[in-house]
Amino acid sequence: MALTSSIDASNLNNTITPIYNKIWFNPKYFKILDKFKGLNNVNFLEIGSFEGYGTNYFIEQFLTGSNCLITCIDPWIKYSVATASNINGYDNLINEDTYNIFKNNTMKNQDKILIRKGFSDDILPKLDKIYDFIYVDGDHSEKTVWNDAINSFAILKINGILIFDDYTWNEGAKSPKNAIDRFLLEYKDYIKVVSINYQVCVMKIKDYA
Ligand SMILES: C[S@@+](CC[C@H](N)C(=O)[O-])C[C@H]1O[C@@H](n2cnc3c(N)ncnc32)[C@H](O)[C@@H]1O
Repeated sequence: MALTSSIDASNLNNTITPIYNKIWFNPKYFKILDKFKGLNNVNFLEIGSFEGYGTNYFIEQFLTGSNCLITCIDPWIKYSVATASNINGYDNLINEDTYNIFKNNTMKNQDKILIRKGFSDDILPKLDKIYDFIYVDGDHSEKTVWNDAINSFAILKINGILIFDDYTWNEGAKSPKNAIDRFLLEYKDYIKVVSINYQVCVMKIKDYA
């Protein structure tokens, strides 16, 4: 779907209705996050935020207590440039305009969002929080998913939840599957596997030694 020209978020108010060009989000995978509803001081992290559909969902469903935040990492540039594996086919959806669409769509929740614009490889090691939940949904190449997995695990709280999207998407060399399988094996003594479906959900039980 073609995008319209860029939206100047500074001219918009908090009541504007979000517009999504594509929804890559299925709420059925996130029931486990119900336990965070109403709690205070909860921190979520989303790697790959696109137009903010998931971001808004996480905030409105789960980050309902006080002093709760979600950190959003995304370079918001063409998918073929952002990914390590030259995945094509999404550049019409993800480009510089997508950043403005994200800000516009999430404006109503902006007080609960920390935007970190860039690549997860660069940003994850620099984050200074630890998180209750991390959603890995950025670059789907094996190399980056592996880096996202180990960098995320390092900043996940004990009993925190880590969910990988698209476990079997594009199965083969460019799929997240190989990296996730390796993580499940190498970190098996440090995680409890909650579920393995199209998404993989684990809970951290101890720090990686
Ligand atoms: C499938 S979309 C995310 C959908 C979003 N989580 C949702 O549920 O609405 C993937 C996003 O990952 C971003 N991305 C690609 N490479 C990335 C990287 N290296 N680091 C962080 N994000 C990346 C893309 O720009 C794109 O917006």
